[in-house]
Amino acid sequence: MPEASSQFRVLGGTRLVGEVNVTGAKNSALKLMAATLLAVGESTITNIPDIADVHIMSELLTRLGCTCTFDAKTGTMKILVPEVPGHRADYDLVRKMRASINVLGPLVGRIGKVEVALPGGDAIGSRGIDFHIKGLIDLGAEAHSEHGYVIATAQSGLIGADIFLDFPSVGATENLLTAAVLAKGVTTIDNAAREPDVVDLGEFLIGMGAKIEGLGTSTIKITGVSQLQPTTHATLADRIVAGTWAFAAAITQGDITINGGRIEHLEVPLDKLVEAGAVVTKTPNGFRVKMTKRPIAVDVATLPYPGFATDLQPFVITMNAIAEGNSIVTENVFEGRFMFVNEMQRLGADIHIDGHHASITGIPQLSGAPVAATDIRAGAGLVLAGLVSEGETTVEDAFHVDRGYPGFVESLRALGAKVERI
Ligand code: UD1
Repeated sequence: MPEASSQFRVLGGTRLVGEVNVTGAKNSALKLMAATLLAVGESTITNIPDIADVHIMSELLTRLGCTCTFDAKTGTMKILVPEVPGHRADYDLVRKMRASINVLGPLVGRIGKVEVALPGGDAIGSRGIDFHIKGLIDLGAEAHSEHGYVIATAQSGLIGADIFLDFPSVGATENLLTAAVLAKGVTTIDNAAREPDVVDLGEFLIGMGAKIEGLGTSTIKITGVSQLQPTTHATLADRIVAGTWAFAAAITQGDITINGGRIEHLEVPLDKLVEAGAVVTKTPNGFRVKMTKRPIAVDVATLPYPGFATDLQPFVITMNAIAEGNSIVTENVFEGRFMFVNEMQRLGADIHIDGHHASITGIPQLSGAPVAATDIRAGAGLVLAGLVSEGETTVEDAFHVDRGYPGFVESLRALGAKVERI
């Protein structure tokens, strides 16, 4: 893994041209790994990206008594789950990676007890877990938070229930889905998240023997089974990484073929790129984004899937910062996500924040400066901003980017970027 203290040095002024390969999605891989806890024996997950968070999840599962073997070259992860796994996820790991919370559902569902450190807020805003707790209580668990831990128990097992989520939370849908597959009777989750990651997790569970209907819709119906078996599954392609490259092409007036990208998972963001002047075409193995002029500014509001993903918001802000015209970007999912705008302002971007709205006046070119990554996507956005800044930009805290993008610098260099890790 790259050094924790490293930074990216970017020289502005190059178009990105060429091909990139998209591997499995971070947001699927981590959830699939946690879900292996539901069955005793060895599950195999392929197309796993070699990123820092995957190694953190391996460590968490190892501490729970599993044996994780990762072949980074082939992207194959084998997880051997014991008869009686541990039940506690400590703060030192949860604070590094919020997806640790995804062991909550599988452990309470299978062994009837779990303690997971509360993840707290992070650089993109406060990230509650009240829906997770309320849903587990609906399923008959005793669940509460105490001394910084969520503690849930269900000594005689969970019982199917009708659950309604106040917001289509991805994390809550995943935890309740993985809890309900072993519950007695039928569970429905209404206002469920429809993200492709949730569908991928559901298909993994079906491969283990779970009975699930309605994946990809707002109502998921789960009929509990008494036991699940280990399975083999290929992780879904990363739509956020594919979307990052799509914006990278538009921002740099480049031409990138995104192999493995799934156009059908990016309809709204790609429509926005077309509105900005890009040409998007399907290719046999993915799609291609080509931009031959300065982008035209577009208004965007982030929303749960199939809306514009909050994870792509830094890229549309970066594009609008150098686009022709004015725009408004509204963040509806995470209030802290505009923290990275302060860094964009250091590069000369003309952006004003008013609550959850960012008003952006496009300027022809940014001006290179030292900046710092505040989270995964903000870090990648700042590197792309550096590519359209005059002179040199350094992006500190590169480790954020390593949490989400395997071989980011190598891919950028292959596309012609002047970037290095220092
Ligand atoms: C979110 C994104 C997901 C993205 C991931 C990583 C959405 C809907 N979800 O998923 O696409 O890949 O971040 O950046 O865009 N909330 C509560 N109580 C809860 C659970 C959630 O109030 O119990 C709130 C959160 O604070 C947040 C919103 O609901 O404002 C969405 O949260 P959720 O979807 O659970 O977040 P992630 O699973 O992290």
